[in-house]
Amino acid sequence: MLKLRVPISALVLSCCYFAYLVEARVTAPSEVNALIAVKSKLVDPMKHLANWEKGDPCTSNWTGVLCNGTVGTDGYLHVYEIQLLNMNLSGSIAPAVAQLSRLQILDFMWNELTGSIPKEIGSIASLRLLLLNGNKLSGSLPDELGYLSKLNRLQVDENQISGPIPKSFASLSSAKHLHLNNNTISGQIPAELSNIATLLHLLLDNNKLAGYLPQEFSLLPVLRILQLDNNNFNGEIPASYGEFPNLAKLSIRNCSLEGSIPDLSQIPNLRFLDLSHNQLSGPIPSNKLSANMTTVDLSNNLLDGSIPASFSDLPSLQRLSLENNSLTGSVPVNIWQNMTFISRKMLIDLQKNSFSNVVGDLNPPENVTLRLGGNPVCSKGNTTNISRFCGNESGDDGTPGNSANSTSCPPQSCPTDNFFEYVPSSPVECFCASPLRIGYRLKSPSFSYFPPYEYPFEVYLTRSLNLELYQLHIDSYAWEGPRMRMYLKLFPEVNVSRTFNEIEVQRIKGIFTSWDFPGDDLYGPYELLNFTLLGPYKTMIFPNQKVNISKGILVAIVLSSIACVTAISAMITFLVTRRKTRYQPSLSRKNLSSKVSMKLEGMKAFTFREMAVATDNFNRSTQVGQGGYGKVYKGNLYDNTVVAVKRAEEGSLQGQKEFLTEIKMLSRLHHRNLVSLVGYCNEEGEQMLVYEFMPNGTLRDWLSGKTKEYLNFSMRLRIALGSAKGILYLHTEAHPPVFHRDIKASNILLDSKLTAKVADFGLSRLAPVLDDEGTVPHHVSTIVKGTPGYLDPEYFLTHKLTDKSDVYSLGVVFLELLTGMQPISHGKNIVREVNMAHRAGMMFSIIDSRMGSYPSECVERFVALALLCCYDNPEKRPSMLDVVRELESILKMMPDADAILSEMASVYSGKSLPSSSSHASMDPYISSSVSGSDLISGVVPTVTPR
Ligand SMILES: *[C@@H]1O[C@H](CO)[C@@H](O)[C@H](O)[C@H]1NC(C)=O
Ligand SMILES: *[C@@H]1O[C@H](CO)[C@@H](O)[C@H](O)[C@H]1NC(C)=O
Ligand SMILES: *[C@@H]1O[C@H](CO)[C@@H](O)[C@H](O)[C@H]1NC(C)=O
Ligand SMILES: *[C@@H]1O[C@H](CO)[C@@H](O)[C@H](O)[C@H]1NC(C)=O
Ligand SMILES: *[C@@H]1O[C@H](CO)[C@@H](O)[C@H](O)[C@H]1NC(C)=O
Repeated sequence: MLKLRVPISALVLSCCYFAYLVEARVTAPSEVNALIAVKSKLVDPMKHLANWEKGDPCTSNWTGVLCNGTVGTDGYLHVYEIQLLNMNLSGSIAPAVAQLSRLQILDFMWNELTGSIPKEIGSIASLRLLLLNGNKLSGSLPDELGYLSKLNRLQVDENQISGPIPKSFASLSSAKHLHLNNNTISGQIPAELSNIATLLHLLLDNNKLAGYLPQEFSLLPVLRILQLDNNNFNGEIPASYGEFPNLAKLSIRNCSLEGSIPDLSQIPNLRFLDLSHNQLSGPIPSNKLSANMTTVDLSNNLLDGSIPASFSDLPSLQRLSLENNSLTGSVPVNIWQNMTFISRKMLIDLQKNSFSNVVGDLNPPENVTLRLGGNPVCSKGNTTNISRFCGNESGDDGTPGNSANSTSCPPQSCPTDNFFEYVPSSPVECFCASPLRIGYRLKSPSFSYFPPYEYPFEVYLTRSLNLELYQLHIDSYAWEGPRMRMYLKLFPEVNVSRTFNEIEVQRIKGIFTSWDFPGDDLYGPYELLNFTLLGPYKTMIFPNQKVNISKGILVAIVLSSIACVTAISAMITFLVTRRKTRYQPSLSRKNLSSKVSMKLEGMKAFTFREMAVATDNFNRSTQVGQGGYGKVYKGNLYDNTVVAVKRAEEGSLQGQKEFLTEIKMLSRLHHRNLVSLVGYCNEEGEQMLVYEFMPNGTLRDWLSGKTKEYLNFSMRLRIALGSAKGILYLHTEAHPPVFHRDIKASNILLDSKLTAKVADFGLSRLAPVLDDEGTVPHHVSTIVKGTPGYLDPEYFLTHKLTDKSDVYSLGVVFLELLTGMQPISHGKNIVREVNMAHRAGMMFSIIDSRMGSYPSECVERFVALALLCCYDNPEKRPSMLDVVRELESILKMMPDADAILSEMASVYSGKSLPSSSSHASMDPYISSSVSGSDLISGVVPTVTPR
């Protein structure tokens, strides 16, 4: 403790000194005047800007004013952001705001401002974000805004702006997002906007635009979302709109359009098409739309002809609305035939057309809603088989959602009236904390039914915010026309603090308000509706950078001392409880099942007594790990062989028959790179598996530096190859094939010679058996198993388990071998980090320096292989066989290739070893399969005594 005191006081001193240095700087006088002028035009009933008088804007906490921490070349501090979101401000925007000449973000969203947008804003050359949405601004859009060549985002939606879109906007050469919707903008859309090569999202819906649709728009090279609903165009949809190279969403609902629907089948990634409520006529183009389509809404037009057969080949389709047209022919009976997990629910609305018959068997699955009311086929006195679709129910496209809050925690210790609540998906039970509450709206999502996308959305949001997944809770969501409003809660990290600290709050708010989220077509643009600080956050001020620095260090000191105290008390608790439970007699679960104990040939069947003796009555001191299945103990058999005993927990117990079937299956799996099963115990209501012991622990221990030595590059390659071979055996040699489902560095064990052995395969991990139609039976695909950070994103999304899911997880292990990093740490995902470094040509900067020297071409190929394994698209990932081949060929490039390969070849034959000999040769037995989650915290697992 004494040693620590000196550097801390030095830190505090130096940070005070730094604070003093910054104190001496002042804001540029012209900017101070500008801010005072801006304030003078605002009406501020809540007195949010009361502190815009005292002292200096950049160094005295002026609300919503953010400055650079260092002085510019002119010796002054400069304002680079004005953040006045949601502050009940009215009044107008003073033209003097333009004197903030270094401004990058001007944010007045969700206030009550009136008057027009000052044309002077066009002279703030550095402006990147101009955010004026949700006010009552009127007048027209100034031509001068077109000068903002650095402008990335212009949001003036939900105001009362009138007049035309200036042609000068064509020179907004950095613009990605133009949101002008919900105003009264009129006139012709300038075709010149097609010059903005950077444009991603163009939202012009709910205005009074007229004239024709510019055919040049299809030249916009990266345009993803074009939303023009509720305007008054006339004429046709240009045929060129079939040539958009990157469009994901085209929505031109209720725009008085005529003529026929162009062929849109050549737009490769189209997901969402809404052309409803127009006067479109003629047939629906028959060519197949993109396989990514979630929504096709062509309702309320004058379309005729029949439904193209190609609609039955859209696996992601969630909604097909064709109601109120003049469509004829028969009702299709197979639109849902290729439906995947992604769509999960499908609405097909064919009401009020002229469908006269059904050919074939009309029997959609339960999750498909089909509506046929108002068609001749319904009035023919038909069979009940058809009439059950003839009712005229409505609604139900996008039910609002409320995430269930099922906590069984004691109510009294987390008072909700105090803005504290239990963290809903906390990894720690009943952790009471205060969330940040955020109103958030997807302005133009490309789906019709949210549940299948909820999980990926949570992953997307938490990754962007650098938070853990459990820290986000989507409290509720509801559709508002084409938009989706959500209420989010963000919780602080459990076991750290019950509230976010100021710096975190500022960081998170900053990400929301500066749109630092990566774009995603699926979710489309978002808007922040509110970020209101309530409860413990209410008094939180938003200091400028200067204050941050010293406070940050103080917070860090406080936090680390808390962590220190917590760790010490955890240790003491552990020692005390360990002592208490040491002499407790262990009881078997006699009551659980009858005393039947079947025997199995070729495996040693241990008695319960043998197991109890070997593990000192399942003494906690012999526990070496805890997996999903139960605790793992290190045991000494009577003949002094060391084994690992996995004892099933009550929840993991299986029926006798299933247990023995699995043992039988496991007993047939033998490979040099798999941890072997030596026996089992099936007595007294207990189920245990007995494995060979691995004296060198897990790969994760080696990578995290828990061991004294480090693995060099060639050892790492060998471990990679060994693991891949073990898994290849499971995939190709086992009958039936076994998918591991939980490959991770803590499931790769190392024997006395550091040979990799894959552990924890088997139990309930059989590869799904395909049914007659080649689809995975439902029961296999419902529960996602695995460990965060290693889990194949495609498997998450589709719940379809394939061999490529194991390839992904192994790829993550490869990345760990290369970088020494954890798959997820501080919310950073290893795949993303390595991909970014790789693309930036910085790969070698994140290679684990502890592995000494290495031939760089070998590392390069290994990195390329690992990243290939981690492709999002499973089809692009190599097979396990390809992985083994590539690793072998990398090994051959190594200087010591011959020695390594001959050593590996001497035991590995590519075929299973004879089971008897592998048993006989097993000297040290045991697997110390420790589940990753217990190791992450680095805290000794606490065990509740039975
Ligand atoms: C900033 O605000 C805090 C809290 O209101 C106050 O304690 C601090 O003195 C202020 N800093 C300056 C330089 O005015
Ligand atoms: C001021 O800060 C912003 C945001 O951090 C940065 O982009 C800009 O380059 C800084 N300007 C100067 C002159 O330091
Ligand atoms: C936009 O305008 C439409 C039509 O007037 C209205 O239904 C909608 O609520 C408005 N606001 C948003 C955010 O869409
Ligand atoms: C679906 O969209 C993804 C991008 O989100 C794209 O990579 C993929 O190629 C698309 N598939 C088809 C069939 O268009
Ligand atoms: C959809 O199903 C049909 C009939 O089973 C099949 O021919 C077609 O290839 C499937 N399409 C896709 C994309 O799976």
